Amino acid sequence: MITVKTPKEIEFMRESCRIVKETLDFVGSRIHAGMTTKEVDDLVYKYIISCGAYPSELGFEGYPASSCVSVNEVVVHGIPGDRVILDGDIVSVDITAEKNGFHGDAARTFLIGNVSEERKKLVKVTEECFFKAIEGLRAGSHLYDIGYAVQTHAESHGYGVVRALTGHGIGRSMHEDPGVPNYGKRGTGMRLKAGMTICIEPMITLGTYRVLMDNNDGWTVTTADGKCAAHYENTVLITEDGVEILTL
Ligand code: MF3
Ligand code: CO
Ligand code: CO
Repeated sequence: MITVKTPKEIEFMRESCRIVKETLDFVGSRIHAGMTTKEVDDLVYKYIISCGAYPSELGFEGYPASSCVSVNEVVVHGIPGDRVILDGDIVSVDITAEKNGFHGDAARTFLIGNVSEERKKLVKVTEECFFKAIEGLRAGSHLYDIGYAVQTHAESHGYGVVRALTGHGIGRSMHEDPGVPNYGKRGTGMRLKAGMTICIEPMITLGTYRVLMDNNDGWTVTTADGKCAAHYENTVLITEDGVEILTL
């Protein structure tokens, strides 16, 4: 179901999203080589709880942690555990927080220490894909204009655009309709409405766009060729004359 939020609901979305943003800033200030991904998850859990919110990935369809911590070849849904983060890694941290019944959702890919130019550029272009996607986006825009913009920018650099996972609507549920693919044809798909809140989340790879879906634990998504992937996500509100990024 696609939902259009009332002004009161948008205020709740703003608060949940602000907590997500602050948590990611906090993680970014602490994450370093030598930490395990579980230690990153502990930071996320404690910070979100201290804000009076709930880390709503925890228990979502049985997911066992408060964050997805995805290192290098892990695209998304890396389960925090004893993997040690190393100098030169790129680590995506994807979190959600629920407060007053509404969810916020965002992800950043952090550079750990001395990262190669090739990986740095991947992370930069992945962020740029998000900003290209929101350029000119507003009520009345077509849904697949988003994917068109992401795909055009990523492929112009020779990168892969993951197809198997998409962005999504968000609100009282973490995942609402519509799905928001990172590929597509300009001028197609439904028209967006003011008051819709959606997550735009490019997942971009150095090599193939093909991924392996569950890697024995039911969650971890990796690139099929083992090359690095980056992920960047924000929750955005569609307005009459543009978008408001709620997690920035
Ligand atoms: N935050 C993820 C997204 O962007 C969802 C993760 S679900 C989990 O949609 F269960 F893996 F945490
Ligand atoms: Co997310
Ligand atoms: Co999301």
